[in-house]
Amino acid sequence: MCGIVGAINSGSCVDFLIQGLKTLEYRGYDSAGLAVLNGGLHRSRAMGRVAGLEDKVAEKGIAGSVGIAHTRWATHGAPAEHNAHPHVSEGLAVVHNGIIENYESLRVQLEALGYTFTSDTDTETIAHLIQACLAGGNAFADQPAQDLFAAVRRAVDYLEGAYALAVVHESEPDCLVVVREGSPLMLGIGENGHYAASDASALVAMTRRMVYLENGDVGRLTRDSIELVDGQGNAVERDVTLSSLSADAVELGEYRHFMQKEIAEQPQALGNTLEMIAGANRLHPGIFGADAETVLAEVDSVLILACGTSSYAGMTAKYWIEQLSGLPCNVELASEYRYRTSVPNSKQLVVVISQSGETADTLAALQHAKSLGHTRTLAICNVPESAIVRETALRFITRAGPEIGVASTKAFTTQLSALFLLTLLLAKANGMLSADTENGSIEADREQDLLAELRHLPVAVERVLALEPQIAEWAQEFAHKHHALFLGRGRHYPIAQEGALKLKEISYIHAEAYPAGELKHGPLALVDAEMPVVVVAPNDELLEKLKANMQEVSARGGQLYVFADGDSRMNSSDGVKVLHMPEHYGLLSPVLHVVALQLLAYHVALAKGTDVDKPRNLAKSVTVE
Ligand code: G6P
Repeated sequence: MCGIVGAINSGSCVDFLIQGLKTLEYRGYDSAGLAVLNGGLHRSRAMGRVAGLEDKVAEKGIAGSVGIAHTRWATHGAPAEHNAHPHVSEGLAVVHNGIIENYESLRVQLEALGYTFTSDTDTETIAHLIQACLAGGNAFADQPAQDLFAAVRRAVDYLEGAYALAVVHESEPDCLVVVREGSPLMLGIGENGHYAASDASALVAMTRRMVYLENGDVGRLTRDSIELVDGQGNAVERDVTLSSLSADAVELGEYRHFMQKEIAEQPQALGNTLEMIAGANRLHPGIFGADAETVLAEVDSVLILACGTSSYAGMTAKYWIEQLSGLPCNVELASEYRYRTSVPNSKQLVVVISQSGETADTLAALQHAKSLGHTRTLAICNVPESAIVRETALRFITRAGPEIGVASTKAFTTQLSALFLLTLLLAKANGMLSADTENGSIEADREQDLLAELRHLPVAVERVLALEPQIAEWAQEFAHKHHALFLGRGRHYPIAQEGALKLKEISYIHAEAYPAGELKHGPLALVDAEMPVVVVAPNDELLEKLKANMQEVSARGGQLYVFADGDSRMNSSDGVKVLHMPEHYGLLSPVLHVVALQLLAYHVALAKGTDVDKPRNLAKSVTVE
């Protein structure tokens, strides 16, 4: 949801700004722009991708050692050059990630002061507001602010919403001012200067030494100093952390697309995430945090909050949790939960799942849960320094590595593995993984067996990846279709939903998922020869029911594409194509089936020639409501 980069160094910062924007492009790609100080303010903006900006900047010969840059996901104001950042006010330029909620009233006040607006954005309000604070003698500031740093500190008092900002002014050519309030921003300490960016991936090419800002922090960066004040105006120092992110991790390497790379990386990502259970026969709650044992022991139910793909991980886990632990589990979309009246339960474990840890709705849902008195909170997240992780009592960091493709893949499967670990712990805490079989609990050996199955996942996923040529063949048949149905039952229904989401996100084919039993209650009316129907058909207790649902499709001339297990006796015939998964994987089979559906979506998108990694209208890290 917009990416920002800033730099103040001793050479030219333009290459860093452009490369940084390219790394952050996953956050939005409606337009890009930069502003550099070099004997005045030089700005360049371009519609669409960063590559377009790069050409423009080269043409104009823009150079300088202090600058800010932005890649935009449009919220206020259409994608258009006049709405592209940086926004300026006289000699001042600002880039912004987030939303200013009170921008309309601020705009009216600033227009009354004589400031002229040239865009439809909320961000331009910030530029004029800081300028008004610099000027003084108005409702925002009696006196002129001492300098840009002071003016920004004054201006943020008037801003409502979530924002990360980087600001420069031509009258202070040796200074870059940054702000973090609700949207991510971090600083990099380099050999020859200081840097700022929305996430670490944009900084690693320059430095590994990073400073994570807290909400409310305002900073003044020069080439050799960083001055920070917190939300109360007190001078603060924040720890310097050494990032473990490697520059390779955010590069494409031998792959054509990040999504392709990230699908292929899943065995490794799962292996890394499950490393802590490498030799274990028993699971220890400590993997979820020091207090996990106490917190989980008293839990009487689970509430999972998430958005998008992460919510489907939660829905899959609901089946596991209720089946294995006997605890009731509800899954709710974060954007719905935060605005409805719900009944809090202090013994409930609230689990937030988020790849980025910055999704605004998920963060707000967590804060809402806490405001209702929920203290037993757990984050399952891929970014250790993210906002969500900092706000929960317990945490589990998936080790998928940076996920750049907008459509989530390896983050999802690693979330599933983490949720399975949670399920086992809850089952143990609830006495369901003890030797007490009389009371319907799962015998002790089961824990050992399930851990062994988890450990085998990387190998099992590798075998699914080997099916790619056959899946790619199927994909050719989807490329000319306009709609597709995905069917699944039980714990594979959320997998069918995730498969449909992947297909619509990157191939723009309208796809819907149904629990197969619902077919006859409506969607069957859509089935004809033009409607491919994808069926997630593991060999489980629901397979016979599913086969009956497939008959209903065949009888209406629908073309079935069935992902069956190796040991299910299903064969291709007229109107039915069957692909056998390499092994039958029981409870963990959703992890394997989803990989096959990721490959299907990827190859359909390839066949259609869409932009796989940056699908239209979307962005990866959704830091606005
Ligand atoms: C966006 C992304 C999705 C992702 C969702 C939730 O919509 O495009 O891939 O699933 O946000 O993101 P999170 O980072 O919270 O998992």
